[in-house]
Amino acid sequence: MSEAMWGGRFSKTTDERINEFQASIAFDRRMYQEDIAGSIAHAKMLAKCGILSEKDRDAIVHGLQDIRAKIEAGDFDFSVALEDIHMNIEKRLTDAIGEAGGRLHTARSRNDQVALDTHLYVRREVLAVQKEIVNLQQALVLAAEQYKDVIMPGYTHLQRAQPILFSHHLLAYYGMLARDFARFTGVYERADIMPLGAGALAGTTFPIDRAFVQKELGFEAIYTNSIDAVSDRDYIMEFLSAASILMVHLSRLSEETILWCSREFSFIELDDAHCTGSSMMPQKKNPDVSELVRGKTGRVVGHLMAMLTTVKGLPLAYNKDLQEDKEGIFDAIDTVKFSLSVYARIVRGMKVRADVMKKAVTEDFSNATDLADYLVKKGMPFRKAHAVAGQAVHDCIARGIYLEDMRIEEFQKLSPLFDADIKEAIRPETCVRNRNSLGGTSYDQVACQLGLAKKQIEAEHERISLALRKQAV
Ligand code: ARG
Repeated sequence: MSEAMWGGRFSKTTDERINEFQASIAFDRRMYQEDIAGSIAHAKMLAKCGILSEKDRDAIVHGLQDIRAKIEAGDFDFSVALEDIHMNIEKRLTDAIGEAGGRLHTARSRNDQVALDTHLYVRREVLAVQKEIVNLQQALVLAAEQYKDVIMPGYTHLQRAQPILFSHHLLAYYGMLARDFARFTGVYERADIMPLGAGALAGTTFPIDRAFVQKELGFEAIYTNSIDAVSDRDYIMEFLSAASILMVHLSRLSEETILWCSREFSFIELDDAHCTGSSMMPQKKNPDVSELVRGKTGRVVGHLMAMLTTVKGLPLAYNKDLQEDKEGIFDAIDTVKFSLSVYARIVRGMKVRADVMKKAVTEDFSNATDLADYLVKKGMPFRKAHAVAGQAVHDCIARGIYLEDMRIEEFQKLSPLFDADIKEAIRPETCVRNRNSLGGTSYDQVACQLGLAKKQIEAEHERISLALRKQAV
């Protein structure tokens, strides 16, 4: 007979190589806290329902607490032969407390057990990710305030387009992160559903009380269908997709950071503590962190693709393929949290070269739209004004000058609508101040965005601490 916990119907022990292949203990051991908390809640429920004696319940609870302390002290031998965290803990418990340990798995399957553990784990980690999102949002808001009046060219097609406030540009990333935060709140809601009690797939013959376990573990809801409860990996796919979108945002920010700190742009300077050098070229100071964040985006998106592909075509209910959900999401959790936290440091440490940004605005034609708008406000149709401004740009390029270098008579040759106030109208500060439409780049609009952002950050903090208070585990 096999010595495995399920070995009764086997006449041979599992091939060692096969054991190694199918074991998940190497990675699912990080769910030990959740496994123990879930088992304690289950044992309490069994006792409450008269399925387990109070004596056995107490032995189980103390035994599990003891195991938790041992794992935390590094005094626990994880065994590959015992496959996963669930059986490692159960076996150790039974070794320690005898028969009572063997009663813990009553009315439970590893299928609903692993689902429970993973729900608890993801639920906790969503909040950890959200904390890091808020931290980066705060860094962006701080930088936006510090460089409130700095003007830079805004780009389309990576060509200078119109003067904008640097703070306005930073706050665009703030907005993306706010949506990321909201997406993770959605992930949280789908992870906050209690699967235990589904058994292997069909429920159980024992008179269990699922609501008791729900309350013990602070879940918002209970799966209403036992087959769905053990088969559902939506919350994993949702986590990975929210994480992928978030990483794509960080990757765009990374790309801009890399461009901005290049000699060609020289818009910002990164802190020495956040860059590395070259082993060969003594002059180099490389933005590796941004490059790595950009690079790691591929890996998180890869985990999403892997999970979607794994679940696609799986028959209900549990299949071992589902064990493949863990490494990807664990790695995505680590990667996302780390990337967010290092990026907050990058943003806090960067120095902005306001003079260089300003020069990029003044020594170019990003105020050409304002020239056209000036004429429109004097009564010219926009299409015609566009053509006049285009002509002005064309003439300036030919003469090697900029719009602000043109004399008033030269403007008036292009259109009699030009007055002396044109000079003021095309100053970068004026261009910025005048874009005062809701959500625009004007000083007033950006101040308004900053105010809203600060309020939103408070609400996000509130949301995290509320969820933490509701979580028993
Ligand atoms: N280790 C498995 C997983 O991560 C859980 C075990 C369920 N396995 C089973 N053969 N019923 O999904």
